[in-house]
Amino acid sequence: MHDIIRDLNWRYATKKYDSSKKIKKNDLEIIKESLRLVPSSYGLQPLKFIIVNSTELREKLKPISYNQSQITDASHLIIICSYININTSHVDDYLSSILRTRDIAINEIEAFGNSMKTTIDKMKNEEKYKWNKNQAYIALGQLIHTCASLRIDATPMEGFNAKEYDKLLNLSDQNLSASLVVPIGYRHKEDKVQFAKKVRKSQDDLFITL
Ligand SMILES: Cc1cc2nc3c(=O)[nH]c(=O)nc-3n(C[C@H](O)[C@H](O)[C@H](O)COP(=O)(O)O)c2cc1C
Repeated sequence: MHDIIRDLNWRYATKKYDSSKKIKKNDLEIIKESLRLVPSSYGLQPLKFIIVNSTELREKLKPISYNQSQITDASHLIIICSYININTSHVDDYLSSILRTRDIAINEIEAFGNSMKTTIDKMKNEEKYKWNKNQAYIALGQLIHTCASLRIDATPMEGFNAKEYDKLLNLSDQNLSASLVVPIGYRHKEDKVQFAKKVRKSQDDLFITL
């Protein structure tokens, strides 16, 4: 079996974490770099990743996450936040970053910049947030796979009250909203779900070959 398939079969949405086991600093750095390298529409990266270390804060987040025990028991808690709004100044920052990184002339990317600005200008505010939130799911997929390769457990979570998160963490003032929550760490030996067979559709059901 290929390593990728082995990793993907090893992982599962962990329900119970062993709170005594902590992720090593080196592994956390790999996870952070993996999130930095996440692709996004146009490359705009309208995301922030909050790593909540504070136990006190995690205790407060638990009741606004349907009391899911992973919030407090996992080694680390990552909140994937999306920008609420995105505008031409974000595009300009991005264009400057391209110029700096690739050492090219502005005229080489002017058309690209204008096309991004036109697309964004046409969007209503709700559409912008929806677009930015879509980028969070790309980060989620990459995060889960990276963790699985490192034999670190992860739980993708939509089961939380985003409005309450935004309020508690003062996110709106920073043009952010909590899109997804991902506890990461090590499965508890008593988590029965780890022994359950994966339930997935067959390839015949999933693929259409034309
Ligand atoms: C976007 C998303 C949100 C999810 N939210 C939760 C959640 O709040 N709590 C939870 O325990 N599992 C959550 N899950 C886990 C799914 O139930 C799980 O991935 C699915 O049943 C497949 O099982 P597996 O990941 O163990 O293979 C979520 C998964 C995804 C992708």
